[in-house]
Amino acid sequence: PLVSTGELVSEARAAGHGVAAFNVITLEHAEAVALGAERAEAPAILQISENAVKFHGGRLAAIAAATSAVARASSARLSLHLDHVMDVELLRAAHPEGFSSVMFDASKLSYGENVKATADAVRWGHERGIWIEAELGKVGGKEGEAPLDAHAPGVRTDPAEAAAYVAETGVDALAVAVGSSHAMTERTAALDHALIGSLAAAVPVPLVLHGSSGVPDDEIRQAITSGMVKINVGTALNTAFTGEVRAYLDAHETGVDPRKYLAPAREAMAGTVAGFLGLLK
Ligand code: G3H
Ligand code: ZN
Repeated sequence: PLVSTGELVSEARAAGHGVAAFNVITLEHAEAVALGAERAEAPAILQISENAVKFHGGRLAAIAAATSAVARASSARLSLHLDHVMDVELLRAAHPEGFSSVMFDASKLSYGENVKATADAVRWGHERGIWIEAELGKVGGKEGEAPLDAHAPGVRTDPAEAAAYVAETGVDALAVAVGSSHAMTERTAALDHALIGSLAAAVPVPLVLHGSSGVPDDEIRQAITSGMVKINVGTALNTAFTGEVRAYLDAHETGVDPRKYLAPAREAMAGTVAGFLGLLK
């Protein structure tokens, strides 16, 4: 069934567990998340990024309808989340399309501009019952410096600044920079677990780990023990998907039916989903 992200995150946090959010690009991604969640007997968050919406020609309604139909038909509890939204128009479209949560990403802006834009997004979301995640991007930087990418190697979120940011914006969850970075195809990231503990103690809202594809199993388990709650996984599904497609096409030079390679690709993604879901308790 389709449930809300806020409910899944609150439950996980209260139990001392994590909850995983998987990025959906194609219908097969959504089906794989549902299959993996059913097999693992765990809930999951289906997230669609602004980039994925752009890939579908800006037709949020189409990818959202397909993904939420998959969630409704599943025996697993699944929620629908809009990820890395920078465009305020897209944020506003989240409500009519049935998203229960949005990650509003103003992390490229200066601290002051990030706070202002995010506080506006939170006000808009809370008037409609939408849970808002945000990211603090400029970490420890001084006024006038170019904003840093929060997930660039070496960048870290400062606990005192994070606490001020959450108080000033009213966000429901905070994405933090603790050593992971996006789009890694090898699981070699080393997290700063002491910092995760300090951040969890400093901010009253659940923490979100982005770029979890590059984080080894043990590091994810330890991060949850230190207070990380929402675990975002994208690239690992694409690695599984593309590996199967490549193997099929290499072995079948004259094959043309996409179902022949999308079926094993979907199955491989479901296995990856179940693997991550098994780490969260
Ligand atoms: O918001 C999405 C995630 O941070 C996914 O990152 O593709 O590196 O796993 P990843
Ligand atoms: Zn991310």
